[in-house]
Amino acid sequence: MLEKIKSVLNRLTDISDLYDWDELVQEDRVHRLIYTDPAIFVAELTHIFGAVWVYLGHESQIPNNDDFITVRLGLRPIILLRDSQGKIRALFNRCTHRGTTLCRKEKGSARMFTCPYHGWSYLNTGKLRAVPWPDGYACDFKEAKFNVAQLPRVDSYRGFIFGTLNADAPPLLDYLGGITEPIDEWLDRNPGGKVVVCEANRLKFKGNWKLAYDNSGDGYHVVFSHRSLLEMENRLADEANKGMSYYKGSPDSKAMYMRYTGNGHHFKDKRPNIQKRAGGLWAVEGPAPGSEHYADELRRRFGAKADELLDLAGSEPVNINVFPNLSLLGNHIQVFEPVSVDETNVTWYGTSVIDDGSLGGAADEINALRMRTQEQFPNFGEVDDLANFEEIQRGLACLEDEWIYMHRGLEVPGRVQTDENGVVTAPATDEAFMREYIKEWKRLMQAQPNLVVQREP
Ligand code: FES
Ligand SMILES: [Fe+2]
Repeated sequence: MLEKIKSVLNRLTDISDLYDWDELVQEDRVHRLIYTDPAIFVAELTHIFGAVWVYLGHESQIPNNDDFITVRLGLRPIILLRDSQGKIRALFNRCTHRGTTLCRKEKGSARMFTCPYHGWSYLNTGKLRAVPWPDGYACDFKEAKFNVAQLPRVDSYRGFIFGTLNADAPPLLDYLGGITEPIDEWLDRNPGGKVVVCEANRLKFKGNWKLAYDNSGDGYHVVFSHRSLLEMENRLADEANKGMSYYKGSPDSKAMYMRYTGNGHHFKDKRPNIQKRAGGLWAVEGPAPGSEHYADELRRRFGAKADELLDLAGSEPVNINVFPNLSLLGNHIQVFEPVSVDETNVTWYGTSVIDDGSLGGAADEINALRMRTQEQFPNFGEVDDLANFEEIQRGLACLEDEWIYMHRGLEVPGRVQTDENGVVTAPATDEAFMREYIKEWKRLMQAQPNLVVQREP
């Protein structure tokens, strides 16, 4: 059963008349208000986080029937689960009685959820199971309105679970479009084309969520913002070629590139900087305490084949950004979560490989090494980025200084290529990805999404 969210919500979040959107978002610049205005943030919770397919979690986090994790869709608390029949659902984590958060755990396994407030209990399909002392009620609890609300559309792409409230959103595969190609390549380098999500580095910053998405494809800042990381990675190296040192010198003359694939998605492909040979990726991995022993052990056991195994522990040099909240970078799954107009959570989930028989028993060593390499960026690089985001938010408090520029590459002859499908390719330090995704953001902010929730009949 579908029920239309009341038009009053649309009225609250309809800000089409509030601004001249073409004034706020121009070809070369955006207005500070898109990062600072609480009214725009509230509208984003329906026009973006709700209207498009938003990443919710990974199938490996709920591998068995009855498994659940608690996540968010914008500010909406969500229980993402596999019900007792194996169907993946995203329930609003909200009791239908008086609205209490139903499930207060981060993860677990449950055939039903009992509300801590007055004890109403629900099956993991969302259906109301029982209420205490029902003789105090005259209503029919079989009515669908008493079942927990849930997202009408939940779908997965190769393990990545997305959900939307928008009845008119395109199918997930159409929404992802061309970004599936780098996602496929990111997965297919792993045995069986799969990864399992591990625990996470959890960070937060006092800034708008779009500052993180603006940066997710930014190749311009690397050598300046991450100078100490680059120096640390290369301090013990014979040749200063570790980590992201390919950004030094003249990065735009290198074969790496950025590509905008549509619907706000883009990726930066740094793989052309890496030697195409077994061991080529591991060769640029910086030092990580505790990793030498595992690497030596793999070389002792596997000889020449160790190079391929070590590459599985090396950070894949791509940034694959799926609008609005998912980024695959290195071997991480990074998730952006808006908290308020000037507060955002960023979570870096590590991933591990599964031995499909091709690893000869080396999965534990590979995964131990992956953990070391995955500790590095969130600890040494992300802090640089978060500091930038907070300093931008601070700078945007200068009310009279209105504009943020993103015109690097614009109108430079021959620099930015657009093909017949609208796919944009540019050198690695270009801001074309930002110009393109923010156009899509502007389009979405002016649209009238058809948001609905569903309840079991
Ligand atoms: S609010 Fe959940 S049972 Fe009352
Ligand atoms: Fe960065």
